[in-house]
Amino acid sequence: MTRRIYRLHVACVILALLFCLPTFGDEPAPRAPAPVMTFHGAEWLERPEREQEEMPAEVIKTMGLKPGDVVADIGCGTGYFTRRMAKAVAPDGKVYANDIQPEFIEMLKVNCAKEGITNFEPILGAEDDPKLPKGGIDWILLTDVYHEFQQPKPMLARMLESLKPDGKVALIEYRLLGDTAAHIKKEHRMSVKQVLAEWNEAGFELVDLQEFLPSQHFFIFKRDPDRTK
Ligand SMILES: C[S@@+](CC[C@H](N)C(=O)[O-])C[C@H]1O[C@@H](n2cnc3c(N)ncnc32)[C@H](O)[C@@H]1O
Repeated sequence: MTRRIYRLHVACVILALLFCLPTFGDEPAPRAPAPVMTFHGAEWLERPEREQEEMPAEVIKTMGLKPGDVVADIGCGTGYFTRRMAKAVAPDGKVYANDIQPEFIEMLKVNCAKEGITNFEPILGAEDDPKLPKGGIDWILLTDVYHEFQQPKPMLARMLESLKPDGKVALIEYRLLGDTAAHIKKEHRMSVKQVLAEWNEAGFELVDLQEFLPSQHFFIFKRDPDRTK
């Protein structure tokens, strides 16, 4: 009888371990990319509450964008951040505004035209390549985008190639852990651990991690000289 109870106990422990293996707490490992948000959701990207929820002016201030900078907005959607960054780097700077959905590129053009913004270049990218000029970018911004990359590894590799030697990347992702982003589906959120695992492996080094946004992590990365000779 005692032996049967012991065996049952061992079986329960093994089962529990098996259920826990694919996750670390709340962080699925490996992470699966989220489905790409389609252009049908464009209105959500232009909602007025974004000013308070995602504080674009504070984000751009933290990046320290200045006139003359060359910036890439990867996964630009309707151009919510493209337009704001284009104003920050004008008159001599420009924004490469990239997306994989031609419909978003069209909306970006219309939205920029409405505000008289001309210092941007639309780029229709591919799922594994943002098609940016090599070695010419001061800053790349990825807002609510990276978790949707279906092919994150080649995207990160191409991003590294596009940066100037001292170029940086601003990455904004909804928090997976805690409840500050509970209104966002889990698959569209990431933990610091998940981001660092993928970005360090790809040759990026964390420069700063800001947590002033209400629901999102705000990472700043640069090229890791030890991994990208
Ligand atoms: C949630 S929207 C965010 C749009 C914009 N960054 C913003 O904050 O308003 C995600 C965007 O990422 C784009 N996207 C997904 N995968 C991409 C990829 N591999 N390259 C470029 N854009 C991509 C989608 O088409 C979509 O426009």
